[in-house]
Amino acid sequence: MVGGASALNNNQRLNIQTKSSVMTSPTTVRGLLKNANLYWRLATGLAVWFLCFHTPVFWRQRRISRDTMLAVHIVTAAMVYLACVHNCLLTPSLHAVTKWMHRWMGRIGLLSGLVSFSLGAFLAWSRLNRVGEGSTSLGFAIPITIGGILQLQCEYKGYRAIRKYKALQTEIDALRQAKMAGKMDRHRLQQLLVDQRVALGNHISWLLNLFVMACGIPAGIRLAEVFVPGDEGIQGILALLGVIGALQFLAGRYIRKYVSSTVGGALYT
Ligand code: HEM
Repeated sequence: MVGGASALNNNQRLNIQTKSSVMTSPTTVRGLLKNANLYWRLATGLAVWFLCFHTPVFWRQRRISRDTMLAVHIVTAAMVYLACVHNCLLTPSLHAVTKWMHRWMGRIGLLSGLVSFSLGAFLAWSRLNRVGEGSTSLGFAIPITIGGILQLQCEYKGYRAIRKYKALQTEIDALRQAKMAGKMDRHRLQQLLVDQRVALGNHISWLLNLFVMACGIPAGIRLAEVFVPGDEGIQGILALLGVIGALQFLAGRYIRKYVSSTVGGALYT
């Protein structure tokens, strides 16, 4: 075809541009290195310690395989944590394959979170002051339920934000497709693009909170117990506050870095 490139409309050019940049491996590698930043490595280090070293020991000691409900609760909680590690490394913009993996790993993770929370809350409240192993107390059930509700809030808000992002993408595509060149339409397109970036910023920040805070706090508490054994007394409380403070600091820095490098910090509200 003679003069092929010039015969392409804007939409076709945009598609080619997107596809070729997505398929270029140096871009993918650069993006991967950007995602594997210091904050991701710290949060992932905690997850690896918790899932690969602490949990197997706890599983054997508490003979979890004999307690089906607790076993499913722990496995599904681990799946949320793994989905976070995976999704913060493999983001949709890296490659068509990572886009698919991110979407499906994220959906499985978020659904696992729902199962994990429901079972965890049921176990915490149904085993209150029970005689024998696995008994819980109000001092355990109340904070763990509050933590679970905050986890669900991160999941819900993060998911809702990305659905909004995708709905806006449909509108943006329709506007571009219709080739509306009037002033009002260009204005509308600009507004949609801004709204879309804000939605993506919200998706990122809610789910980084899920990763670092909601999943990180239980892991961090266990790690603190290694250094300050026994959760009684002032030392235990200080260790707990120290863990929450450190993770909050990490989450804040991580979110700021990620959101500013992805969608421009000023846009995030
Ligand atoms: C804990 C971390 C994360 C989880 C659990 C997660 C989860 C998800 C889920 C479930 C979807 C699919 C929504 C749907 O259509 O049903 C999704 C899509 C998306 N996520 Fe994430 N996400 C995480 C982190 C991130 C990060 C750090 C970015 C940074 C760029 C990101 C960017 C996106 C984008 C752009 C989409 C839309 C992909 C598409 O067009 O289908 N996510 N995420």
